[in-house]
Amino acid sequence: MDTTGVSLTGRTALITGAARRIGRATALALARQGVHVVVHYHQSAPEALALCEEIRGLGVSAWPVQGDLMDSAQTEAIFRTAAAQAGTLDILVNNASMFEKDTLWDATEESIRENMRVHAVAPLILSRTLARQGRPAHIVNLLDTRVAVYDREHASYDLSKNVLLTLTHMLALELAPQVAVNAVAPGSILPPPGMGIDYLTKLTYANPLNRHGEPEDIAAAVLFLVRSRFITGQVIYVDGGLHLKGHIY
Ligand SMILES: NC(=O)c1ccc[n+]([C@@H]2O[C@H](COP(=O)([O-])OP(=O)(O)OC[C@H]3O[C@@H](n4cnc5c(N)ncnc54)[C@H](OP(=O)(O)O)[C@@H]3O)[C@@H](O)[C@H]2O)c1
Repeated sequence: MDTTGVSLTGRTALITGAARRIGRATALALARQGVHVVVHYHQSAPEALALCEEIRGLGVSAWPVQGDLMDSAQTEAIFRTAAAQAGTLDILVNNASMFEKDTLWDATEESIRENMRVHAVAPLILSRTLARQGRPAHIVNLLDTRVAVYDREHASYDLSKNVLLTLTHMLALELAPQVAVNAVAPGSILPPPGMGIDYLTKLTYANPLNRHGEPEDIAAAVLFLVRSRFITGQVIYVDGGLHLKGHIY
């Protein structure tokens, strides 16, 4: 019996924040496996439209869907629009993210609320709406190795990603047996928008493998999880082993 996983051909996926960077690599990796992709975006309309063209060139369907995940009504509308275009959805990748500096000393109620909305409330709304389809599906949440490695310079972000970690475990139990819920926790993959590659090279010493990863490394972990038939509630750290060290600086 083949236990390596299921074929993804003909499946449908919704990926949030998919127009650029890791989301884009994940969308292309799924499309190359024959998955039809809903490319959610917020502000990157030209990139989302170009990605949809590229995905269609691979012989599968692609649809752009715009919306602000800070807003619950818009988050629900994103799913409705995605499902209206793609039919039912088989895969949800909660990838969209904001990454702003603050510490526990200066974090505001607003910064905590915004991070929680994008990284926890929106994934919850999308996940339970997916589950209400009443059919088998996979959810992958994008965490951060910082859930294991406290980063005092990104406190609101780290806090909200830890909520998403807990939510991954809760949803894995709550949505079983129909829906598998897993997570990928990247380490150094891409510099934050506006920062150069120096940002990453300065940090490579911190992880045991002494290098940074590529968006395709994250996409490969997502692919592995959505092809699995017997994994739920799992976190794959794709971080060169940084999570083992317990500190980032
Ligand atoms: N990059 C890394 O090295 C790294 C390291 C650790 C963890 N991660 C995690 O991996 C995932 C992907 O990382 P990334 O660096 O590729 O992400 P990113 O560039 O920081 O964000 C991805 C997309 O999220 C969307 N987004 C932000 N705020 C939104 C909102 N209010 N509503 C809807 N969409 C919104 C943006 O879409 P638009 O451009 O369309 O506005 C953005 O392009 C994230 O969850 C991140 O936390 C990344």
